[in-house]
Amino acid sequence: MTTTPSGASVGLDQVVAARTRLSHVYGQAGQLVIAGYALEELAGRASFEEVAHLLWKGALPDRTELGALSAQMAKVRGLPAVTLDVVRAASKAPPIDALRMACATLSLDLADPNDISREADFASARMITARLPTIAAAHARISAGKEPLAPRADLPHAANFLYMVHGREPDPIAAKALDTYWVTVMDHGMNASTFAARVIASTRSDMVSAVTGAIGALKGPLHGGAPGPVLDMLMEIGSADKAEPWLRNELAQGRRIMGFGHRIYKVRDPRAEVLSRVALEMQGAQLENRHLFDLAREVEKTALRILEEHKPGRNLKTNVEFYTALVLQSLGLQPQSFVALFACGRVAGWAAHVIEQRAEDHLIRPQSEYIGPKGLKLER
Ligand code: ACO
Repeated sequence: MTTTPSGASVGLDQVVAARTRLSHVYGQAGQLVIAGYALEELAGRASFEEVAHLLWKGALPDRTELGALSAQMAKVRGLPAVTLDVVRAASKAPPIDALRMACATLSLDLADPNDISREADFASARMITARLPTIAAAHARISAGKEPLAPRADLPHAANFLYMVHGREPDPIAAKALDTYWVTVMDHGMNASTFAARVIASTRSDMVSAVTGAIGALKGPLHGGAPGPVLDMLMEIGSADKAEPWLRNELAQGRRIMGFGHRIYKVRDPRAEVLSRVALEMQGAQLENRHLFDLAREVEKTALRILEEHKPGRNLKTNVEFYTALVLQSLGLQPQSFVALFACGRVAGWAAHVIEQRAEDHLIRPQSEYIGPKGLKLER
């Protein structure tokens, strides 16, 4: 932890900024708890819509509640014309920037954009969570020179997204893989974007503003991460027989192997374990890039063996980035869109934190330590 001369923590490291019932990261135990459930209980077993309900309402939905939530979200998936105009105007911008710009327009068709009542917050949570994938899909198609597709209300959240990107109903295994990925990244303690959303909500600002700010925070490479380098590594390695010499050379050059090790998780990254199971299940699906998938499994095995030799006992395990890159690439999604796709999952968590912060109704306003000059005089 970095501290100032007076002993205060820089960057709020180790400072508890909020109380939450939503999620917690137990780094030493390698556990992520979401509203009382270990991640492994939920991912692949409860759908995105079910876990969104869990975060927003505090309990998994029964059949009636799930049907109602799914229908409400499906109904508002379509984008207002002005939002689609912004997506077109941002067709050359990175997908995460297009998402941020388009998200900001989502208050335009609200009856009262500044209504921050509990009911309005829930309605906005459903609307924004339903629409971010529509924005991401529209941007993917427009930037590839294609026309965007209208969402289909008869498909679940993840399946509809893949339909809107590829123009065909996805293989059920592929749809489940994306659903599981989104559940896996839905909430992760007091990360920077979640904190940003809570700070904005604490001023009694609206849900659209809070989520737009959170997207801005997620965009930075220190947060949204860079699954891209994992793909670059796999492309450079090219074939399984080249993995060992390539990885050994990286370590000999003093470089780190992308997709391995973690700052908080010192035992294992539970998200990587979940996504590794998804990757296994996907072996049965019609994948866009089967060769890369098989290569990645071989590279992983070799990297784990070599890293244990390189840093014995340091437990450098596969992290979430490795499998995120693999799963999303295998679904035929473009690497430059991975951060935006992360946002499409995390948005349910951001919205839940806004609702929770609203109940707290306490302005987040930390102190700073002044280190500038004092007593300066105007020389006039
Ligand atoms: N490859 C090679 N060596 C490594 C790696 C790696 N991937 N990760 C850690 N090490 C080495 C460190 O250099 C350190 O060696 P030292 O003690 O001789 O200095 C030792 O292993 C222990 O590392 P830690 O200090 O425990 O790791 P740290 O917390 O500093 O870093 C990090 C964590 C940044 C994730 C690191 O493991 C890394 O750079 N990994 C590769 C990049 C990556 O995959 N990033 C995505 C992380 S997932 C996420 O943030 C969402």
